[in-house]
Amino acid sequence: MRQWPRRRRINCILVTGGAGYIGSHICVELLEAGFQLIVLDNLSNSSQQSLKRVEVITDKELTFYQMDLTDKVAVTSVFESHSIDAVIHLAGLKAVSESCELPLKYYQNNINSTLVLLELMAQFSVNKLVFSSSATVYGEPEKMPVDETFPLAATNPYGRTKLMIEDIIRDVCQVTALNTVLLRYFNPAGAHKSGLIGEDPNGIPNNLLPYVAQVAVGKREKVSVFGDDYPTKDGTGVRDYIHVVDLAKGHLQALQAMDEDREIGQCKVFNLGTGQGYSVLDVIKGFEKASGQKVDYQLTARRSGDIAECYANVSLANEKLHWHAEKSLDEMLEDAWRWQTMNPEGYSND
Ligand code: NAD
Ligand code: UFG
Repeated sequence: MRQWPRRRRINCILVTGGAGYIGSHICVELLEAGFQLIVLDNLSNSSQQSLKRVEVITDKELTFYQMDLTDKVAVTSVFESHSIDAVIHLAGLKAVSESCELPLKYYQNNINSTLVLLELMAQFSVNKLVFSSSATVYGEPEKMPVDETFPLAATNPYGRTKLMIEDIIRDVCQVTALNTVLLRYFNPAGAHKSGLIGEDPNGIPNNLLPYVAQVAVGKREKVSVFGDDYPTKDGTGVRDYIHVVDLAKGHLQALQAMDEDREIGQCKVFNLGTGQGYSVLDVIKGFEKASGQKVDYQLTARRSGDIAECYANVSLANEKLHWHAEKSLDEMLEDAWRWQTMNPEGYSND
């Protein structure tokens, strides 16, 4: 990856949703790269402890606002108080099953918060945006690997909010000076090497990795493997797991491309993954190796809405953002295990 040039125009970055799993890892990378950081989060799915630990890891300070991004009056005061050069927009609700039960909650939160943000960015002439999109916008892709030109579709309200937000941003970019990089994440996993920050799900984890970690640490009995009759190498679902620190670095590369006015387009989309697919059983076996613990599992029926496999073609991000994922699945699992054992109750012990 290329170094930032010594002279750069972006200095102060607003990170919405920065106290969350991915956001806290992005904050570490941004502080270490010398940026001034403003974090805005309503803590609806996170703890301020993550940000305190970001400051411990980096030995640097950030400015935090506990605020709801849908509250335009409050967020206006943040734009008035700081000379923001760029925004990384992660704030949003992300639980697929909850979005099916409470679609309005997802549309209200994810869409309205983005509208407030875009209005204020226009009002205060902040023209650089990186948005957290998801591989979920590819729906059920017809072939693998998935590249950015594939047709878009959503299979649940959460995914539809991501698609809608992508469309809204594209529309705004057409008629204003806004420059955006839409990053479609595949399956973020792992934790910071320090073991101080990581994924801290509320209640029963929906995603594979935190569930496996909780079984390994003895918090849950066994993993349910959702389906073993998919047309994959061992019949279980295949995904493109990407280390959260690699993912975080992708955001820096996106900002750098915009800062240098590199010819990537005014609203450009990039997949962030490794390009490599691993099955559920690969993850379970890998976690046993990383942790030295037995991870019991049972084969169960397919989870409704799941697809057999999903992995990325990442050549566009390699070429245009000068970014590639560096960390292996083993490293993700080792780091997830360190986080899990150092913080069996997540941030709630602080
Ligand atoms: P997270 O829940 O840990 O982080 C999201 C943060 O946004 C939380 O801290 C939450 O408190 C905050 N938030 C939500 N609504 C808000 C609002 N109205 N105002 C202010 N803050 C608000 O989730 P994450 O895994 O870190 O995901 C970050 C982003 O990446 C999300 O937009 C998510 O949809 C997207 N994404 C995540 C994954 C994944 O598997 N983790 C995959 C693809 C895309
Ligand atoms: N799985 C199990 N047991 C579990 C949990 C998951 O077998 O307890 C399987 C799933 O069936 C799937 C794989 O493990 O084959 C990964 O499942 P996750 O729930 O961890 O991840 P998904 O790929 O289903 O979805 C995640 C996010 C979505 C996001 C998508 C792409 O939850 O929001 O990655 O980024 F859109």
